[in-house]
Amino acid sequence: MTLLMSAAAISMGAVDISSPNGALRLNVDVDAAGTPVYSLDYKGKQLVAPGKLGLKADETAFTEGFRITGIDTVTVDRTWEPVWGEYDKVRDHFRELALHLQADNPDRKLTVRFRVFDDGLGFRYELPEQERNNYLTLKDELTEFNFTDNHKLYCIPGDYDTDEYLWSETTFSELPQALGNYRRHSEAQRTGGTTIQTPMLLKTPDSVYVNIHEAALDGYPAMLLDVDTENNGMKAHLVPDRLGVSAYLQMPFKTPWRTLIVSDDARDILASQLVLNLNEPNKIEDTSWIKPMKFMGVWWEMFTGNQKTWAYSDEYLAKPGVTDYSKLKPNGRHPANTENVKKYIDFASKHGIDGVLVEGWNEGWEDWASFRKNRQFRFDKPYPDFDLPYLRDYAKEKGVKLIMHHETAANAADYELQLDSAFRFMKDNNYDAVKTGYVGAIIPRSEHHTSQWMVDHARHVIEKAADYKIMVDSHEAPRPTGLCRTYPNWLAQESARGGEFESMGGNPPSHTCILPFTRLKGGPMDYTPGLFETRMSYYNEGKDSQAGTTLARQLALYLTMPSPMQMVCDLPENYDRFPDAFQFIKDVPVDWSDSKYLEAEPNRYITVARKDKNSDNWFVGAITDENPRTATIDLSFLPKGEKFEATIYEDAPGAHWKDNPQAYRIRKVDVDSRKKLKQPLAAGGGSAIMLRKK
Ligand code: NOJ
Ligand code: CA
Repeated sequence: MTLLMSAAAISMGAVDISSPNGALRLNVDVDAAGTPVYSLDYKGKQLVAPGKLGLKADETAFTEGFRITGIDTVTVDRTWEPVWGEYDKVRDHFRELALHLQADNPDRKLTVRFRVFDDGLGFRYELPEQERNNYLTLKDELTEFNFTDNHKLYCIPGDYDTDEYLWSETTFSELPQALGNYRRHSEAQRTGGTTIQTPMLLKTPDSVYVNIHEAALDGYPAMLLDVDTENNGMKAHLVPDRLGVSAYLQMPFKTPWRTLIVSDDARDILASQLVLNLNEPNKIEDTSWIKPMKFMGVWWEMFTGNQKTWAYSDEYLAKPGVTDYSKLKPNGRHPANTENVKKYIDFASKHGIDGVLVEGWNEGWEDWASFRKNRQFRFDKPYPDFDLPYLRDYAKEKGVKLIMHHETAANAADYELQLDSAFRFMKDNNYDAVKTGYVGAIIPRSEHHTSQWMVDHARHVIEKAADYKIMVDSHEAPRPTGLCRTYPNWLAQESARGGEFESMGGNPPSHTCILPFTRLKGGPMDYTPGLFETRMSYYNEGKDSQAGTTLARQLALYLTMPSPMQMVCDLPENYDRFPDAFQFIKDVPVDWSDSKYLEAEPNRYITVARKDKNSDNWFVGAITDENPRTATIDLSFLPKGEKFEATIYEDAPGAHWKDNPQAYRIRKVDVDSRKKLKQPLAAGGGSAIMLRKK
């Protein structure tokens, strides 16, 4: 239903619109200066105080002097089916309000479109075609998110280039202190002492949780938030290019949606599909080639020390004219060699793991090490000790897919030039999936990783990959905003501090208790779970750090950090040491028809049950922070009257992430929907359960 009101009827006052269930109430107005403002009530109480809306450009300011020329409202209730994900059906149910604005200047038309869902709010700016000038050089976005009190914030520091940070649990007023503790990587990444990234989470004293992020980031820079620590407010801060410009726009143009997921039940934040709902439907017609998968990797070997390298040689190619890698002296510490890769293929084949990622297979790593970073990586030139034709045929014979690695060293411009030949080379050699990487400052202009140009680059790569029927797992790319709905070949991204940091100081157990509330709202993460050997001294005598996890918790991460491209990260030898626990990783699916969040508190604990998309089996994962806890697993989600055999993988008594991480046990019990399991979790521990229908 669309309801069009006349301008006269509404120009005098504010407009209200409620969510379908009435819990959220949006108020929209234009203030005395002609600036659009909005506020949001939740369950009859003000949650978001009046905040300004608008865009600032060089040519003209879309910020004030506006009058309302029209309002459209519509209620939409529809359901769509994701190609993969946590649910097989997603309901998209909202009330929409489009606020059409015009200033005296004929080149100042603006529409702000709001969608109020039961689980939150999304709004975006639409710049229609203007009368004379349709080009804008955007300098700033005015959008404010104002709150009413000194709420709790869960956030990472604002940074134009990386999101690989640990999380702070702080408040508006304590934010400068919390962020002051971070070591910034470089001057270029400094955004100021009170800037944070999205997705971020906020909690009010009444325990209302709000996740703030953006949806459908396309053709526009990523948004950070400048925090007003005294007035409990936040303002959009667009990532600029090298010259300080946020975006070059041609109208008509639609910005990404600004999103607020809202609930007084933390579980609803995890279950929300709002960000996906605000993205465009799937653009890929034939999706039969998009296959969720588990994969191992010639990868952890290089992280664990002992001097293993991505590079084939320790000699640099600095000598001009040297192009023949077979002339370089091999360093003997290069795991991407034929014999070693074969071992991974054998192991994956034996245990039914779908893929093997091989990093360090291609020419160029020597130059990277020498910091002569220009056009060094070749994506169609295997190293002399990596016999691709042989491995390609061997993997095929063993029913395993090799996964390509494209580390671009952030030479994005060069990658674009090589894309077609790189993807063609992949297809010619039977590769269907690629992990991309952008380590370092963006070449050639030292642009930022999340600026408009890199956002455009990411979409270009994903579209090109779709043309070649290639699935993508991107690292160091702009953080996800639900575009995986539109491009379901974008199976996973890193875009946060992943499991690899267990070898670089460690991730505290709370880290994976906050990521699902924040980072994961944009899309799945390639977190790389499955670490069984958590003592870094095992790999490297020189290291004494300890991963923030028990072994049983690593199994639970397959449920709490869902991803359709899920790594099985540890060395084959470590899985051979714990074959009974490894059985869970072999059994756990990566694609779901339903998910039930049973218990949740940000930074503290998560318990989730998921139903396998391809069988009647259910799986449960429960994790806690550094405090032990007893999870209550209410099995009432199981179909009534059906019997299930539960195989429970749990921390053994005495287990502790720090000094007894490998103490686990496995037991079986028969259950049905009437059962409530009391599941003890060790400090930094977790539990994983397979419920097999009998
Ligand atoms: C950083 C990525 O996050 C990691 O997974 C990868 O192995 C290295 N870059 C090398 O490309
Ligand atoms: Ca990374």
